[in-house]
Amino acid sequence: MIRTSGLVAGYGKLKVLFNVNFSADAGRITVVVGPNGAGKTTLLNSIMGLATIHDGRVLFQDQDITGWPPHKTSKLGLSYVPQMGNVFSNLTVEENLRVAGYLLDRDRFLDRLALVYEMFPVLKSFRYRRAGTLSGGERRMLAIGMGLMKEPKAMLLDEITTDLAPILVKKVLEKVVELRDQLRLTVVLVEQYAIRALQIAERAYLLVSGVVRYEGNPQDLLSHREFSKLYLGIS
Ligand SMILES: Nc1ncnc2c1ncn2[C@@H]1O[C@H](COP(=O)(O)OP(=O)(O)OP(=O)(O)O)[C@@H](O)[C@H]1O
Ligand SMILES: [Mg+2]
Repeated sequence: MIRTSGLVAGYGKLKVLFNVNFSADAGRITVVVGPNGAGKTTLLNSIMGLATIHDGRVLFQDQDITGWPPHKTSKLGLSYVPQMGNVFSNLTVEENLRVAGYLLDRDRFLDRLALVYEMFPVLKSFRYRRAGTLSGGERRMLAIGMGLMKEPKAMLLDEITTDLAPILVKKVLEKVVELRDQLRLTVVLVEQYAIRALQIAERAYLLVSGVVRYEGNPQDLLSHREFSKLYLGIS
């Protein structure tokens, strides 16, 4: 569903990704792992239209979207949950969801809101609370909920479990599985410490210094002697 071929991308003149061939299949979870500065966020930015493409192609459902700006890629059905600063602290939970769904007419907005509240009951019970008062885990749920308000076909999730306690990591990843299994969404999940994420995924990529070092089965990456030790913290 999402594909890059020979992608060279960065910011302005700077090149961060080199000849990246990436693909995420429809209705599957694809995980991208790699150390700080490897270019994981830049890969998502390149797909969404937030990075400079120097060479190569970005395809969405076989349509060439290379260099399309973010407002166009999101209209196609791509929804991005960015790594940081993704909720408005001064707005209530429901106001955040309203902002995220501003393009929808009233009926579709209410349908989506109901879906988000059904999937995240905690957001419903906190609908009138300011987002700034939510816990870290609740905030990640809100960020995913905001992504869902855009009626996406595919969601790009950037480090949504970072800094969460293990129990919350588990909860958030269970929601990611629901996105796949109940909503049939295509998911690209970027994670730095990714053992759990790899366990729920169908496909994995390891990015190091802007280059794909591994692509394939997540289980094989988990049991890869060198990579799992160097990049996944498995000894
Ligand atoms: N907006 C930007 N302008 C210039 N350089 C940037 C920008 N964003 C990122 N970079 C640089 O691009 C490189 C890759 O960054 P990127 O954010 O893609 O890495 P990452 O794999 O997501 O890392 P992390 O795990 O820390 O989030 C880094 O060297 C970073 O400094
Ligand atoms: Mg990043």
